[in-house]
Amino acid sequence: MAERVIPLFDHRLKTRRAAVPSDHRGPTGRLVDTRGRVLRDLRISVTDRCNFRCSYCMPKEVFDANHTYLPHSALLSFEEIARLARVFAAQGVQKIRLTGGEPLLRKNLEVLVEQLAPLRTVDGRPLDLTLTTNGSLLARKARQLRHAGLQRVTVSLDALDDKVFRRMNDVDFPVADVLRGIEAAQAEGLGPIKVNMVVKRGTNDHEIVPMARHFRGSGVALRFIEYMDVGATNGWRMDQVLPGVEIVDLLRAQWRLVALPPSSAGETAQRWGYADAAEQYDASLGEVGLINSVTHAFCGDCNRARLSMDGTLYTCLFASSGHDLRSLLRGDGINSGSSDDDLAAAIGEIWEHRGDRYSELRADTSSHQGSGRRRVEMSYIGG
Ligand code: GTP
Ligand code: 5AD
Ligand code: SF4
Ligand code: SF4
Repeated sequence: MAERVIPLFDHRLKTRRAAVPSDHRGPTGRLVDTRGRVLRDLRISVTDRCNFRCSYCMPKEVFDANHTYLPHSALLSFEEIARLARVFAAQGVQKIRLTGGEPLLRKNLEVLVEQLAPLRTVDGRPLDLTLTTNGSLLARKARQLRHAGLQRVTVSLDALDDKVFRRMNDVDFPVADVLRGIEAAQAEGLGPIKVNMVVKRGTNDHEIVPMARHFRGSGVALRFIEYMDVGATNGWRMDQVLPGVEIVDLLRAQWRLVALPPSSAGETAQRWGYADAAEQYDASLGEVGLINSVTHAFCGDCNRARLSMDGTLYTCLFASSGHDLRSLLRGDGINSGSSDDDLAAAIGEIWEHRGDRYSELRADTSSHQGSGRRRVEMSYIGG
């Protein structure tokens, strides 16, 4: 199989041209990997750019003025993304999440949303169509997105305190604008809204309780994410991870919490509901979630695939190589562009060979820093 190196991407991850199996079998509606995990969730990154420089994701020193982003011609067009999304839906995908970089930086993103909204699952239901954003442009775009057919949004927000927030986004962006974005999304009914807070010990852990207090009873589910060793640029150290169990202890010192069941198979978050005096979940107070991706790996039922903005498919957030679908879509000078059936078959082949379980393996090797292999950046394949 031909291997090539992407010259424009700093980390020079290998991609392999996805192969069409010789039986050209077309979509089967259900793909199962080597560990019995069914493909359900597709995360599509629409841009490698972001207007923030969160140190855990796009540290300023690396993503500076000299950093080369992909040229527009390398990006999948909206039509190409929608075509692939349709093929993925025919292969059993039920949820599509648009990510980045910052997805709202992609011009006219609502046009893509319009093209994705009519897609249906294998059994004829609308797809769960959602977006992860840093919220900076949400106040301006919430209405358009809703009208285009977006169902809900997840907003990243690491602190309520303006000084702490400005330090974390590292571009001096004010927290008030993100809070306005969340309000606009709520007003448009883009819910249930989730807010993701990446917790770094010593940086924003003192914001855990204020964040919980702010969102308790607001209809927004706040989720705390353990700082992860994604990519190769954030200088991750285990001592900067605040384990989710400690976060639950902090919250329990303030409020009554009861464990809630997962809302869907393969859910990343452990859910806790705020309880009343009788220790019963009080839905009006809402819930919090713990995404303990470092201390409690959830690879066992990981049903997620990730498609980068230039059409490379990754079967794990920590992948060190991907599968090039773009040259199947477009043809590559030698081969002509593929049919939908062939795309479906190629995707099937990739998923059926999948055995990824990085977080479980990381937990097994206490020494850490992973395997030392180069890994894809989160800003390239999205959360
Ligand atoms: P919904 O429940 O549908 O809103 O989606 P989700 O729970 O998958 O949440 P979301 O996409 O917002 O992911 C939340 C965060 O969890 C991401 O930003 C990542 O930090 C982390 N995460 C998501 N998927 C994975 C995964 O497959 N592996 C690991 N290790 N972390 C993940
Ligand atoms: N650790 C944990 N989550 C991260 N994200 C990005 N980088 C990291 C990291 N190193 C997630 C955050 C953010 C989303 C876009 O990606 O949840 O909200
Ligand atoms: Fe941008 Fe989100 Fe990465 Fe922060 S975490 S740099 S907002 S893509
Ligand atoms: Fe899925 Fe890879 Fe994350 Fe495990 S580490 S949950 S396999 S994306």
